[in-house]
Parts: sequence; structure tokens; C-alpha cells
Amino acid sequence: MKASALAPANIAFIKYWGRLDHDLFLPLSTTNSMNLSACLAHTTVEFSSSFAQDEIVVRDSSGSEKRLLADDGEKSSGLFCTLDRARQLSEIDLKARAYSTLTFPISAGIASSAAGLCAFVAASFSALGLSQKVDDREELSREVRLSGSVSAARSTHDGFTEHLFGENHQQAVTRQILSANGWDLVDIVAVVSSSEKKISSALGHRLADTSPLMEGRKRYLPDKAEQLREALLQRDFDTLSLLSEQDTLNMHAVMMTSRPSALYFQPGTIELIHAVKSWREDGVPVFFTIDAGPNVHVIAPQASASEVSKRLKSCASVEFVLENTVGDGVRIIDEHLF
Ligand code: PMV
Repeated sequence: MKASALAPANIAFIKYWGRLDHDLFLPLSTTNSMNLSACLAHTTVEFSSSFAQDEIVVRDSSGSEKRLLADDGEKSSGLFCTLDRARQLSEIDLKARAYSTLTFPISAGIASSAAGLCAFVAASFSALGLSQKVDDREELSREVRLSGSVSAARSTHDGFTEHLFGENHQQAVTRQILSANGWDLVDIVAVVSSSEKKISSALGHRLADTSPLMEGRKRYLPDKAEQLREALLQRDFDTLSLLSEQDTLNMHAVMMTSRPSALYFQPGTIELIHAVKSWREDGVPVFFTIDAGPNVHVIAPQASASEVSKRLKSCASVEFVLENTVGDGVRIIDEHLF
């Protein structure tokens, strides 16, 4: 009983930070994103009577392998809970072995958990014959969210997606805004540091309410996802830029002022924020957005991609770049990793 899945990371425009409910992982408001074509997780899960215990191994782009344990943190425990949930729903009580490879560094603000959890849930459910829950993408998005990550739940649909605010498990689902070929944008991820972040997003969501700025974020948020959705539908790059940059800085202000402070920016992050703003003044259509890490996602229309990439590579703080177009959502695939 074996299945494999391929899922993309995504970059959020209106970000998810803090939760309405920490058990159901419900976001405080609707959050949206674009899938990344080149930042992928490929995961194989097998259930068998010959396995004595569950074993999950992850390998990232540096080639380093890590065996995950249920008490490694909320995201790891979410993987083990997913196996239990799949066994419970299918009434098949077999232990599992899982192997996952990523095309990018783990825990550096490139949503490794989004790609990883999404592929893992789809492969686990599929391996145990729960294909209905995988084929129904809204239902899959609920299951992926329950595994511990709203950003992962946004990777269940193709292209540009949103995970809707809901007061309960049923209401909070992912919907597509635009297909992958709906708008030719690129996300060039400028990596200024690949080292693992000190405060995981799982912890950060619990710290958000300790920031004195969180009340302001809650007041500002409600209509933002709707405005951003409209900007995507209108292919309005200026509004997309304005709303995304504002939301990034708003979220990071909350992060920096939580207790303890989740300060993800590095000197290179600040250098790139200034660089992107000055390129825009030169007439290059481009904006920045930053998740829970120091690396800067630089978004531009496809027509400006090579110019932006060239400029990024000439910045002293950029170690390397990862170039993405808009990607599809999770897929069940035939290529098994073992
Ligand atoms: O889904 P999580 O728990 O990995 O949290 C994602 C948090 C951010 O990346 C900072 C924002 C987002 O919406 O992706």
C-alpha cells in the first residue's frame, strides 16, 4: 500500500499569522498565495505489516537527511497525527514508512512545511485508499490544515489560491482564485541565509497575541484578502505590490514585537527591501514579500524576470536565487522514492 505525491511550496500575499483556533489551525482571516513551480516536495508513503513502527525521513536540497520524531515540534507531530488519522479513517492498522525530498532548503522561510505537509497528507491518504478525500480538493485542504498548516492547505489547488476564513473546520477551505496560467508572474527567491530559523512558524502563531500590535493587525485584516483577490482577478500589478508589501511589513512588525521577539530579518533582507524599492523607482515592475525567514521573495511579471534575476544576483548579500513561475497544486504521481 504505497503512494507518492508532488506538492509545491507557495508564497503568501495576505499572510496567515496567529490563529482563531490552535487545535483546528483556523486562520484569523482569509489568506492567499501563489504556488511556486520549482520549490517542490516529492513524498512517498508506504503502509505495511512488515514495519514495526512509523518512520519519516526528509532530505533537503543540500542532500542532508533528517529522521523526524513525533516530539520534534508541532509540524513533525502533525505528520505522525496524519498517519493516525488516515489509519482511523481507513480502518487499516498498519505502520508506515515515508521518505520526502525537497528541492530547496528547509526552514528558511520558503514554506518547506507547506510543500512537505501537503504532499505527505495526499500520499498517506492515497496509500490507504482514501482517494475520495484526495480527489475532492476542498476536503483535502481541510485535512491538510488539520495536519498543522494553513499555508500547506493553500497548496492543494493549482495556481493562485486562498484559504477562506471560517469559524469551524467545515467552513475553512481552500479555493482557487486563478489557474497557474492565469497570470504570468515569477517569484525569484533571493536566499540570503539557508540556516534554520530560531522561532518556528508553529511557535510564532502562538506568540502573535503577545504583540501589542496584533490588535491593530486584526482591525486592518478583514477586507485585505478580498482586495488582493480583486487585484489578482484584474491582473493589477500595482495594487498587488502595494497590498503585499504592506502586509509583509505589517506581519513582521507583529513578529518583531511579540514576546519573545520573532525577528527574522537579516542585514541582507533589509538590503534587498531597499534594492527592490529603488528598482521600482527605475521603472522595473517588482515587489518584495517575506515569510517567516530572512529570504526575500521578489515578484515580477515574466517579462521582467531576467532583468530582476540579473539585478538580484549582483547584490552582495544574495547567496543564490530560486526562480519560480506559477505552479500547479498537489498531484498524485507514479514515481516512488523507494
Ligand atoms: O502554515 P504555517 O504554520 O507554516 O505558517 C505560515 C506562516 C507564514 O509563512 C509566515 C505566512 C503564510 O501565510 O504563509
